[in-house]
Amino acid sequence: MGTKAVCLMTACALLAWYIHASFSDFEQPWKMFLIHSLTKTSMFVATAFEKMNIVGFWEFYDILLQGQMTAPISNENITVIDTTVNDILVRYYVPKKKSQELKKALIYFHGGGISLGNIALIHYDTFARWTADRLDAVFIAPDYRKIPEHHHPTQWNDAYEFLKFFLQPETLAKYGIDPTRIGILGDSTGAGMATALIQQLMGDPEIPIKPKIQILIYPALQMVDTDLPSYRENEYGIMLNKDLAIRIIRDFLTSDESLKQDLKANQHIPIEYKHLLKFVNWSTLLPERFKKGHVYTNRIYGSSDIIEKFPGIIDPKINPLLANDSTLSLLPLTYILTCQHDLLRDDGVMYVSRLRRNGVQVFHEHVEKGFHGAFLSIIWPYNLDISLRLIDNLIIWLNENL
Ligand SMILES: *[C@@H]1O[C@H](CO)[C@@H](O)[C@H](O)[C@H]1NC(C)=O
Ligand SMILES: *[C@@H]1O[C@H](CO)[C@@H](O)[C@H](O)[C@H]1NC(C)=O
Ligand SMILES: *[C@@H]1O[C@H](CO)[C@@H](O)[C@H](O)[C@H]1NC(C)=O
Repeated sequence: MGTKAVCLMTACALLAWYIHASFSDFEQPWKMFLIHSLTKTSMFVATAFEKMNIVGFWEFYDILLQGQMTAPISNENITVIDTTVNDILVRYYVPKKKSQELKKALIYFHGGGISLGNIALIHYDTFARWTADRLDAVFIAPDYRKIPEHHHPTQWNDAYEFLKFFLQPETLAKYGIDPTRIGILGDSTGAGMATALIQQLMGDPEIPIKPKIQILIYPALQMVDTDLPSYRENEYGIMLNKDLAIRIIRDFLTSDESLKQDLKANQHIPIEYKHLLKFVNWSTLLPERFKKGHVYTNRIYGSSDIIEKFPGIIDPKINPLLANDSTLSLLPLTYILTCQHDLLRDDGVMYVSRLRRNGVQVFHEHVEKGFHGAFLSIIWPYNLDISLRLIDNLIIWLNENL
C-alpha cells in the first residue's frame, strides 16, 4: 500500500472519530456534521467578505438564499395567495376543501434572525403548506421589514399593524375563519416577536379578537443576560453561536459597533435597572437539570448612559421575558419547544417557569437531541428526520387543541 493510501485512510479514520465524538449527542451525526460545516463555512465567508468590504454580512446571505425563494403556487389542496397589507408582503394558504364549518387559522411569524429572506423561503413555504393541509386551517404568514436596514421597533410595528388589520370580524369572515380558533406561532426571533405581540394584544381593547393559543418554537425572549447557562454551553453551537446572536441583537438595536463588546461581556445593564434582572434570573427560574455545573455570579454593571442610547435593550417588545406578572397572567394556552443544544434554550425554559407561576397552561416540549434550527431542517441538504418528527408532534397537538 502506498503512503498516500495510508494517509488517506488515516485522515478518514480521524474525521470519522471527530464526527462521532463531536456529534454523538445528535441523531444522524454525519448529516449534522455536514450542516454544521456548511453553516460555519458560510459564516466565515460572510465575515471575510464584510471585512474586505465586498458585501455586507446579511447581504451575502440574501444572495445565497435567492435560489431558495418560492412563488405563490397553489396545489391540488391549497390555494396560495400573495398580497400586501400596509406595503408588507403577506402570504395566505387557504385549504380548498369545502366545509360547513368555519376554519381554524394560524398566523405565523418566521425566524431567521430578523434578517434572512422572507416568508417565501422554501422551508417556511413547505411548512406552511403541510400545516394548512393537515390541520385544514388557513395559514397566514405576514412579513416584516428586516435588519440591518431597519432597527427595532420597525418589525414590531409592522407585525402589530398587520394583527390590527387581520383580527377584525370582517377580515376573518372574508377567509371563512372562526374567530375563536386562532393560533399565533413563531420560530426563533419570529417566536420572540409573536410572544411580545401577544402580550400586547391580550390587553388591547382596540383588537377585539384574541388568539386561543400561542406556539413558540425555540423563542428568542431577551437580550438582558447574554451569559445564561445555555449561552455558555452553546457559545460555539450549531446554527446559532454566541457571535452570531450578539450580531443579531446589535443589528436589531443599532448600527453602532461599540455596543457589541458590552453585549458580549454581559456588561450592558446599568445598576439603575437592576430591578429588571429578577425576570431573567436563571438561578431562580431554571429547573435544576438546566443549571447543572453552572455558578450564578452577580454581573458587572454597564455605564449609566447605555439605556438612553439604546432603549431597546430593556424594551419588553423585544424582551418579552421582562413583562410583568399581570401581563403574563392574561396569556392563552401555550406550546413551547426548547432544544437542549440551543443557545436560546434558557430563554424558553425561563418563560415556561414564569408562565406557569402566573397560572398559564403550558405544554413544554423539550428535545434532548435538538439544536437551534431543528424544527425546520426540512429542505435538502439541511433535511433531518428530527424535524419531521417535531412538526408531526406539533400538528397532532394543534389538532387536539386549536
Ligand atoms: C393533497 O391531499 C391528499 C389527501 O390528503 C394527499 O394524499 C396529497 O398528497 C396532497 N397533495 C399535496 C400536493 O400535498
Ligand atoms: C438571582 O437569584 C439568586 C438566588 O435566588 C439571588 O441570590 C440573586 O441575588 C438574584 N440576582 C438578582 C440580580 O436578582
Ligand atoms: C404591567 O405592565 C403593563 C404593560 O406594560 C402595565 O400597563 C401595567 O400597569 C403593569 N402592571 C403592574 C402591576 O405593574
